[in-house]
Amino acid sequence: MDALTVVDHPLVQHKLTLMRKSETSTAEFRRLLREISQLMAYEITRELPMKTRRIETPLQPMDAPCLDGKKLALVSILRAGNGMLDGVLELVPSARVGFVGLYRDEATLMPVEYYFKVPQELSGRLTIAVDPMLATGNSSVAAIDFLKKAGASDLRFMCLLAAPEGVARMQEAHPDVPIVTAAIDEKLNEKGYIVPGLGDAGDRMFGTK
Ligand code: URA
Repeated sequence: MDALTVVDHPLVQHKLTLMRKSETSTAEFRRLLREISQLMAYEITRELPMKTRRIETPLQPMDAPCLDGKKLALVSILRAGNGMLDGVLELVPSARVGFVGLYRDEATLMPVEYYFKVPQELSGRLTIAVDPMLATGNSSVAAIDFLKKAGASDLRFMCLLAAPEGVARMQEAHPDVPIVTAAIDEKLNEKGYIVPGLGDAGDRMFGTK
């Protein structure tokens, strides 16, 4: 897969525009994120390994294509990642699921892990980390660090919106991890928000502001 993919499908772009609008409700925002995540999952799983299996149709036997290899692992970077997780899981219901929780230490400004629970045997399993916003890249880089320490060797990072700064930081730290996003916005503002962006994805998804 390419190091950076922008999913420019018209349905994704239209839904993203609806999500950006400040008047979009919490319920609508969640629904749109779930739908976009499904469409992006379609793109990110395009190269999954396949094999054939002998089946019987009502007319005759055939060697039919089906997925090969270990089941996918999806890892939500808390809390906003959960909004993307739901959509991908609808498309790949047999995926194994993990969660990474990080907070920023106010003294060192470095991400600290407060929760980490991922499927066993990540090695050799396509592992997709999801977080809607790739902003500074600090937490995304740290999450990928933790996943690699846990054995993940075939990783992808899926987000909704990215800032150029976050893309650069991820590609510098983890050049082996392809990034899939719906858009790359202009920049980060002085508070670390992506602009024009869509605001705080977690707050908009959960109605916490
Ligand atoms: N996280 C968000 O939710 N929004 C941003 O713009 C940046 C980080």
